[in-house]
Amino acid sequence: GALWVSSADGRIKGFDWQACDDASFRELMTRNAWVDVDAPETNGYGGNEVKVKIVHASEERNEFFFPGFIDTHIHAPQFPNVGLFGSSTLLDWLETYTFPVESGFGVQADQPNGDAKLPKDAPPSALRIYDQVVARTLSHGTTCASYFATIHVPATNVLAALCHSRGQRAFIGRVCMDNPDFCPPYYKDLSADDSLSATRSMIEYIHALDPKGTLVKPILTPRFAPTCTRPALEGLGKLAAEFNPPLHIQTHISENTNEVALVKELFPEAKNYADVYDRYNLLTKRTILAHAVHLTPDERNLVRRRDAKISHCPASNSALGSGVAPVRIFLDEGITVGLGTDVSGGYSPSILEAARQACLVSRLLGHTKSFCQPGIKHAHENGDADKPTLGREKLSVEESLYLATRGGAAVVDMADDLGGFDEGMIWDAQLIELGAVRELSENPFEVQTNGASSLVKTGPVGNVDLFGTETWEEKIHKWVWSGDDRNVKAVWVAGRLVHSRS
Ligand code: GUN
Ligand code: FE
Repeated sequence: GALWVSSADGRIKGFDWQACDDASFRELMTRNAWVDVDAPETNGYGGNEVKVKIVHASEERNEFFFPGFIDTHIHAPQFPNVGLFGSSTLLDWLETYTFPVESGFGVQADQPNGDAKLPKDAPPSALRIYDQVVARTLSHGTTCASYFATIHVPATNVLAALCHSRGQRAFIGRVCMDNPDFCPPYYKDLSADDSLSATRSMIEYIHALDPKGTLVKPILTPRFAPTCTRPALEGLGKLAAEFNPPLHIQTHISENTNEVALVKELFPEAKNYADVYDRYNLLTKRTILAHAVHLTPDERNLVRRRDAKISHCPASNSALGSGVAPVRIFLDEGITVGLGTDVSGGYSPSILEAARQACLVSRLLGHTKSFCQPGIKHAHENGDADKPTLGREKLSVEESLYLATRGGAAVVDMADDLGGFDEGMIWDAQLIELGAVRELSENPFEVQTNGASSLVKTGPVGNVDLFGTETWEEKIHKWVWSGDDRNVKAVWVAGRLVHSRS
């Protein structure tokens, strides 16, 4: 069996499903080879002059292709802070860790970055950090990411240029933060007008960089309600609608209870947090709302009616003690959900880790009263909180992988193009290598001296241990619970090889 990818547009032109052991995984994975045509200008598969490279997934090494992961919420400038959050919660974390690191991406005219192809005036450190973010996320199989940058246009444009040159599909957002009552004096827009005109200049840069938006697109990014004045929110809503199709929008919502209380105080005229965004036409079908831990039933109803999307960031919600988002309720109510790493509220740039954490936190949901959401009956309400029953709130491995791929694709409004291997979809993919079953050494009772390295070469990869008895379903489960970037052998975006494990 083979899978054919057009060199012209990187789309899947045809495939021949070789039987996966378990039909339920056909939607998500293929163990077939795919064909990479090295001569794009010939645009075809028939001619003698076409050089064809066939990439096989090795059965013995337990390799398989999987749709690229979609990170629907990540802060690129916070990458230096990965793992640094202490015991803070959202509002003090922003003040202590986040605004200081982001403020360092400002213009340093005396230190030009020296690369003529890249936007001027961004500090060299921005270049280095952003390059590392893109390389790192690609190495974890993230083929598409929706990035928050900083308020600084040159550095934000650098991030767009780096995604474009490394070949990562990306939405790039300059954060808007013009409210002097919330933003620190050292890191804020001068005014609403300044915020909007800086945003326009980022949009122009990205539209010139990638006129068709094939790989990189701008996304409007009011950081969250407390950082924005009403004129800024209003201006952004209007700016989105100036374009055809309207621009994507991303923000945070109802992550933390103190934040919810603050928004109530800052916007007393609004019915609730979601209504603040809705008043300014910022809840659209291209809006990504990160966290949504504490939405009320009324707010969820509004989000669903506007067809706005939710980015579930479980690692971050646990790290900052924000709570557990009720993903099952979102899905039951017909709200579209994808996964976000939320680096560096989240401690990991890996969407596989986000999938794992989505499974884990969903298992806690029924057990803690404070996680209770109105309108759903939890295990403890039936008096059997400590019974190991599978409650409906629990997400399965398959569901978490769905959120990481097809769910994320729907969140970025690209469900027809990304997230699976359907004919006509774009080949954004990763080759996963779980590794071979470990061989028994010739004399297992003899201490291994120089044998260890050869075992590593032929045996397991990373933390995944296979014993040869696993079904494909079980192998996938082991991947989700024990896998990491060591299992990501190669990554393609639109048919282009963008990462290969060295
Ligand atoms: N709310 C406003 N800004 C941020 C941020 O940078 N990260 C998270 N997790 N929440 C936010
Ligand atoms: Fe965030």
